[in-house]
Amino acid sequence: MYKHESLLKSTEAQQVVTVTKTSVSFAITSIIICFITLHFCPSQLRAQLGTTPNIKHIVVGRCYTYTTLVNPSLRYDCEEIWRQFEEAVISHSSCNVTVEDYFHMFNAMPQIWPCDNFLFWSKTRTLMHSYAAVFRHFWTLEDTLVGYMFNDLIWCGQEEDSGFDFSSCPEWSACRSHPVYSLWRQASQNFAEMACGNITILLNGSIVNAFNRKSMFGSVELDSLDPQRVNYVNIKVVTSLDGPHIESCSQGSIVDLIQILRSRGFHWTCTDNDQYVMFSVWKFHDIKVNYESGIVVLDQSITSCDSC
Ligand SMILES: *[C@@H]1O[C@H](CO)[C@@H](O)[C@H](O)[C@H]1NC(C)=O
Ligand SMILES: *[C@@H]1O[C@H](CO)[C@@H](O)[C@H](O)[C@H]1NC(C)=O
Ligand SMILES: *[C@@H]1O[C@H](CO)[C@@H](O)[C@H](O)[C@H]1NC(C)=O
Repeated sequence: MYKHESLLKSTEAQQVVTVTKTSVSFAITSIIICFITLHFCPSQLRAQLGTTPNIKHIVVGRCYTYTTLVNPSLRYDCEEIWRQFEEAVISHSSCNVTVEDYFHMFNAMPQIWPCDNFLFWSKTRTLMHSYAAVFRHFWTLEDTLVGYMFNDLIWCGQEEDSGFDFSSCPEWSACRSHPVYSLWRQASQNFAEMACGNITILLNGSIVNAFNRKSMFGSVELDSLDPQRVNYVNIKVVTSLDGPHIESCSQGSIVDLIQILRSRGFHWTCTDNDQYVMFSVWKFHDIKVNYESGIVVLDQSITSCDSC
């Protein structure tokens, strides 16, 4: 009897763990995707949504998860980070939180990243959703402490010093300095400034303006990359399997991106879909990913992995 009960409990516990893990990774994936491509994710940013309920528990909990399980070598004061975050947000009105207001918070969470694995992307959301597992080799913004902690959350203050507004937050477009936008802007800038070695940029060749100056990549990250630190910018243009094939390395806005890189003295490469070659690179590199995600992919998504 006793034995049966404990068995049941452990099974239950296991299920809970599995479910949590799945939903968290899903949430993280979607959030990260959204914030990197800020302008193209309106559903995440509906005006009627207020600050995410239980935000303090979520943020501090994620911080402990990250520093205990994800990246245990790092020491951070999670409570202090929260204090600095709260201070930045609630001491200003809901539409008036600048990147500078997050200065102390970012100071409390310095992070160094390894070279050669930085991945930037823009409007390749569907791909990231489906094959997030493939990207484990890369550092994306969501792998950083700040990305991990604030992924998929919404927040804003009310009047000065009256706490978070849980009933509604303004739209991005309504503010000059939106509290959520400002945090991601600074996080993206820090991330890009740290980028070194070979970096990879994933762009969506199935749309017009694959490289968009107004996206977080085009407006913040690109300008923060340092040609002294970055050896190669390797651009991957990914089109959906069934098209359309609108832009490529030699067509459309990507040509402008290459022009900008060239004028700033970056070394660069650009690869259009190269499914079969990429597939084999990926397959040889990491069968486990294939296994875990349960999908055998003959799809452009694997181009993302050619420098794994
Ligand atoms: C925004 O905040 C700054 C201080 O951070 C303040 O000087 C300014 O008046 C505020 N603007 C509005 C419109 O509230
Ligand atoms: C490219 O963008 C289109 C339109 O938003 C989307 O349907 C498609 O899934 C995207 N492709 C990738 C590889 O993410
Ligand atoms: C960096 O990228 C260049 C160009 O794609 C490649 O020749 C080189 O081997 C890469 N270096 C590393 C360390 O991956």
